[in-house]
Amino acid sequence: MLDSKNSIPPALLRLLFRSRAALAGAAMLALLSPILVISTLFDVVGGIENPYFSLLTYLVLGPLAGIALILIGAGALRARTKGEIGSYSYELFKEQLTIPERYGRIRRLGYTAVFLVSSFLLFLGVVVYSGHRYTDSVQFCGTFCHSVMAPEFAAYQNSPHSRVGCFACHIGKKAGGLARARFTGLKQLYATMSGTYPRPLPTPLSNLRPTRRMCEECHPPGSAYASKIRVIDSFLPDARNTRVQTAMIMKIGSGGRRPHGIHWHASGRHQIFYEAAAPGRRRITRVVLKDGAGNSTIFSRPGGRTQGTGTAGRAMDCIDCHNRPAHAFLPPGQALDRKLLNGQIPAGLPFIKREALAAITRSYPDNRTAMEGIARQLRRWYLAHPDPAASRKDLVEQAVRGAQQAYAENVFPEMGISWETYPDFLGHRNGGGCFRCHDGSFRSASGKTISNRCDLCHILLSGGQTTKTIPERLEDAVDRESGRGTGQGPS
Ligand code: HEC
Ligand code: HEC
Ligand code: HEC
Ligand code: HEC
Ligand code: HEC
Repeated sequence: MLDSKNSIPPALLRLLFRSRAALAGAAMLALLSPILVISTLFDVVGGIENPYFSLLTYLVLGPLAGIALILIGAGALRARTKGEIGSYSYELFKEQLTIPERYGRIRRLGYTAVFLVSSFLLFLGVVVYSGHRYTDSVQFCGTFCHSVMAPEFAAYQNSPHSRVGCFACHIGKKAGGLARARFTGLKQLYATMSGTYPRPLPTPLSNLRPTRRMCEECHPPGSAYASKIRVIDSFLPDARNTRVQTAMIMKIGSGGRRPHGIHWHASGRHQIFYEAAAPGRRRITRVVLKDGAGNSTIFSRPGGRTQGTGTAGRAMDCIDCHNRPAHAFLPPGQALDRKLLNGQIPAGLPFIKREALAAITRSYPDNRTAMEGIARQLRRWYLAHPDPAASRKDLVEQAVRGAQQAYAENVFPEMGISWETYPDFLGHRNGGGCFRCHDGSFRSASGKTISNRCDLCHILLSGGQTTKTIPERLEDAVDRESGRGTGQGPS
């Protein structure tokens, strides 16, 4: 039988007391582990949904527990422990294993060690896994670097991809992407804490996933999309904020077996390469179309370079058109149109489109000044232009809130983001987007142009009309069909 001097727990304890580092580590671990266990459990079970809670658990307590372990390990290894659990030499082990009465002791030591180490590894596994899940969560990406990511997060929540994790587009599931994300993540964490990140954040991103994985996992390029009727609502800057609709048939098409329409571009049978004047890709200088047979057609602007290798520059893919699938920052007119359309800004308030536009497009140094400035300007204007409508004061206040929101969702002075910092390439607003190439000025040596025929991509059904338009007629038909007629149809 072993005496108390030789039994395991006291021996381990004595070992700790031999080294100050190990003692400090043990004290830290004793203090941290109950908190860490409980908070990890809470997080895994979903008891608390607070980003700072997860942040504290995984980015502060977790690493601290790791440091405590290292201290214990290092202390234990270095401690001089003659006659007890000694330094781990071969002779010692041989002696312990060959002398029968020592063998029992070493066995018990072994069991204890295996038990301690495996339960700890299990626990560490849970912490590391939950921490890994947490740092990949939308919550972490979107809210931890609060002011840095706030604009992208706000725009994301208004997008059709607001239920697709940041992770799916930006990182992916492959180990390489994960490791890279952790590494650049550390750099970004530093930049955030030291405030050295660029404002606005640069785009295009050099480390995005290839679109083949980023988009095509969910939207295969061969999908055939039927032509689709698009109706764009807008409000004129007149006294009645007249609502107008532009309706068009978008020829979306397919990149599949028979490439046609707009998604002719998404086919793998040909590839377009282009060069741009600056990284923002707003001005394109040269376009090369390489067909399936390997023939290249080089398009350039008058006076531009026509020679050179075929595949220089960027290979065009989904995000050269869909560059804002998750972070659509709207231009001011459209931002207000949305608010007018859903009633957040009352369309019954005379001239509100025009006045709100004037108020939100002024330049403000920060968000607070902007909120005050927009409110002051609108209130002042409506005070100077009285209107008989009795409830006008609450309408003005409602309009103020709507206009402030339209601003706050799209402009972030603290991050250097103003209107149109991040343009959308999907249409041809201000001659950008598709018209970067399809403006009719690109020509090949044989005289072929990149078309800008107005019916190449869409057929306009009605543009800016205020009388009964095609969409209204379609709407009437749908209403009649579903029996919720407006009173004008047959009953
Ligand atoms: C549907 C795919 C998708 C999702 C989901 C997504 N992003 Fe993006 N993100 C993009 C694309 C595409 C770009 C622009 C790429 C370019 O032009 O180079 C981008 C750009 C960015 C940028 C650079 C600045 C800018 O606006 O161009 C940041 C920062 C960013 N995303 C953060 C996030 C965060 C945070 C989330 C989750 C809340 C998220 N993203 C979710 C696709 C996505
Ligand atoms: C994890 C799956 C997933 C990924 C990855 C993804 N999407 Fe989507 N996307 C969806 C879903 C789901 C919808 C439908 C949303 C809806 O109808 O509200 C959608 C809708 C769309 C739409 C139609 C938007 C609209 O206004 O109706 C476009 C365009 C689109 N995605 C493009 C992209 C592009 C470009 C990428 C890559 C940058 C991408 N998606 C990545 C799932 C995904
Ligand atoms: C040449 C530009 C261009 C390219 C390249 C492109 N798209 Fe599109 N895509 C469009 C346009 C324009 C629309 C129609 C938008 C609208 O209705 O306003 C569209 C529509 C879509 C839709 C919505 C279809 C629907 O029925 O509403 C999806 C999804 C989509 N694209 C995914 C992709 C994916 C994935 C890729 C890459 C494989 C891609 N697109 C490449 C221009 C492009
Ligand atoms: C980088 C340059 C570039 C950009 C940007 C671009 N295109 Fe194209 N597009 C081309 C070239 C080159 C062709 C082929 C011209 C030819 O062969 O006549 C083409 C052809 C087309 C065609 C005809 C396809 C067919 O059936 O032959 C459509 C439709 C089209 N583009 C739509 C769009 C739309 C919509 C956008 C914007 C969302 C867009 N393109 C942006 C370069 C571009
Ligand atoms: C290369 C393809 C292409 C060509 C060529 C083209 N368009 Fe467009 N157009 C688009 C796309 C894509 C949109 C955007 C739809 C959206 O907002 O999603 C659009 C949108 C529009 C809109 C609605 C914009 C708004 O915000 O109200 C009008 C109007 C329009 N186009 C007129 C024209 C006219 C006129 C021409 C001929 C000079 C033309 N387009 C040529 C692709 C094209």
